[in-house]
Amino acid sequence: MKNIFLVFSIFLFVHVHSARAYADDGYRLWLKYNLITNQQNLDEYKQSIKAWLVEGSSPTMDAAKHELRIALDGLSGSTIPEVNSVNGDGVLLAAAYRNSKLLAGIDLKSKLEKAGSEGYVILTSNINGKRVIIITANEDIGVLYGVFYFLRLLQTNRDIANLDVVSFPRIKLRMLNHWDNLNGTVERGYAGFSIWDWHTLPIYIKQRYRDYARANASIGINGTVVNNVNADPLILTQRYIVKLVALASVFRPYGINIYVCANFDAPIKLGKLKTADPLDPQVRQWWKDKVKEIYSLIPDFGGFLVKANSEGEPGPQDYGCTQADGANMLAEALKPFNGVVMWRAFIYSYDPKDRATQAYEEFKPLDGKFEDNVLVQVKNGPLDFQPREPFSPLFGSMPRTSMIVEFQITMEYLGQGTSFVYLAPLFKECLESDTYAKGKGSTVAKVVDGSLDGHSLSGMVGVSNIGADRNWTGHPFDQANWYAFGRLAWDHELTSEQIADEWIHMTFSNDSDVVEKIESIMMPSRENVVNYMDPLGLNMIFGYDNHYGPGPWIDYSPHKDWNSTYYHRADSLGIGFDRTATGSDAVSQYYPPVAKEFASLSTCPDNELLWFHRVSWSYKIQPKSDQPLAERSGHTLWDEICLHYYAGVDSVRSTQRAWNSLEVKIDDEEFRDVQMLLEIQENEAVWWRNACVLYFQTFSKMPIPDGLEKPDKTLQYYESLSFPYAPGTW
Ligand code: GCU
Repeated sequence: MKNIFLVFSIFLFVHVHSARAYADDGYRLWLKYNLITNQQNLDEYKQSIKAWLVEGSSPTMDAAKHELRIALDGLSGSTIPEVNSVNGDGVLLAAAYRNSKLLAGIDLKSKLEKAGSEGYVILTSNINGKRVIIITANEDIGVLYGVFYFLRLLQTNRDIANLDVVSFPRIKLRMLNHWDNLNGTVERGYAGFSIWDWHTLPIYIKQRYRDYARANASIGINGTVVNNVNADPLILTQRYIVKLVALASVFRPYGINIYVCANFDAPIKLGKLKTADPLDPQVRQWWKDKVKEIYSLIPDFGGFLVKANSEGEPGPQDYGCTQADGANMLAEALKPFNGVVMWRAFIYSYDPKDRATQAYEEFKPLDGKFEDNVLVQVKNGPLDFQPREPFSPLFGSMPRTSMIVEFQITMEYLGQGTSFVYLAPLFKECLESDTYAKGKGSTVAKVVDGSLDGHSLSGMVGVSNIGADRNWTGHPFDQANWYAFGRLAWDHELTSEQIADEWIHMTFSNDSDVVEKIESIMMPSRENVVNYMDPLGLNMIFGYDNHYGPGPWIDYSPHKDWNSTYYHRADSLGIGFDRTATGSDAVSQYYPPVAKEFASLSTCPDNELLWFHRVSWSYKIQPKSDQPLAERSGHTLWDEICLHYYAGVDSVRSTQRAWNSLEVKIDDEEFRDVQMLLEIQENEAVWWRNACVLYFQTFSKMPIPDGLEKPDKTLQYYESLSFPYAPGTW
């Protein structure tokens, strides 16, 4: 009996502990390199890669070596040897072409020309009669990107028999913007405190900084702005510059340049000058000296990002100057060092007419007035990262200016840290929008990759969702949004499905059932949230300031344009913001075909309806052949609003069911994390639905359509909820 008990205890111990050993805490992101479980693939890969060789040495080539070593061993479950010559079939060779003796006899000229300075070439070939796989590029960084591409093929179980790949980025500046404060908090961050530990830098270099750089390089991100746009001038002091030096040296081998947000008043706050007037010679000199100091320590420093005259931040208008005067002053200081200025167009001040038209009104007249190392950074929509907005009319309207599109990866307005939302469809919706600036096909993507107007400087930035949480992003699925952002910045023609498919294979499993199910819940996830938060073009109806939860009733802010009522304009007659010629005429900021489509009730897409139109409650939704709602057309607007809110909740529930069906196939820890988060999301979805339907019903005075479950709480209850410590509102 005693013995049986002992055996049982040992079994239990081993079982529990081995389960723990395999629990996945998400730290390794999509770079897990777990053993390939499909035996056929594994055999084929082992046959094709019997050894590997990295020719040449530099910090970047060392990074490539490191990656190949851990990845090939992990994926194959054995030690794939590193060799120093091509001494048999099946060598994987990585080398920058111009430094390679082994590649000297192979003509790759045209492919390498195409690859450019950051791209790569991957080829199945022969060297001295031996079969090799070659990863090469003009520069070492291209080789590293190629290594990550190749490893992705293995991680996603793709065929590697006859490789012939040339890949290069479409966009020059592919970067993250961290909204991290120097005190360790993160504005609108939902994954814990800042990843940067400013206190222990520059001496203590966390492994996490290196892994951050690896993850970014694996998806082609080549720049990072480390501090909040609401910038503390301290970042520009010597004390912080040495910390930046330390980070820059971790990032450098991975091809990542460091940038900072500059506070426009730094010459006053740090330099003790009386003014920060951009036309003042002393101010200009102060910036030149500061820039010189930075470059003397960080020769590959990228430049400055600036939020000026926006939400209380200082800027050139404080001195009667234009936004261009401010940007150009910094551009002049940065130019000798090839640095750039990213100047944000996110500006507004209270205007009863329309906040959404202001950036265009202010910036369009400045087209052609910026120095050539300035990029104007424009949020994807005219307002502020709403779950759905039309694209900003500034795209395509400033042909003589380099443009950056700014997306928000962190989910300030999309449920924050608890929502399952895959953002690639949102990014793509904007990138694929046709501005018609130069006729049909003038997409936002072509504006920001510079091809529409022939700009060599181009950019795409994402407001980072990374924090100090062990799994980097808080919600495990938010890793997919970081991944998708990087992949699209490299190649905006990838589809959301392709990216999801890659990420699921690399993050969860190569089991086709898992891949299909997860993809099927990722793809509609953004639309689900739109449905239960702000369907049919509604927007900005969030909780006050924290932007958490529903707050369509908010109308007490002294900033009138921070009130929800400013945006939805609901009353007994109807709801929506008239942005046609009878209202703010925001439609006229778009090129004619787009303006015409948005301006007419019969052609405006349903999902932008209340963004552009004020519509009566009993208005019958028009049939539109190309939209899924067509079958439901004929409903009144009120019914349609309700149906969307209810569909949003239902879809969260079906996401839960699909996820639960994967229990035995997903790592236990990750499975449970997502399961619990979905439970929270379901509560939040019901909260949004009930609160919004009850609130809007006070105006429509119409019943919730038959067959839909009735809210179990009153509007007063929802209005009384308060969240003084809501996440991300530091
Ligand atoms: C939003 C956000 C702010 C942020 C601002 C910006 O308004 O709520 O926290 O500072 O965008 O993009 O500058």
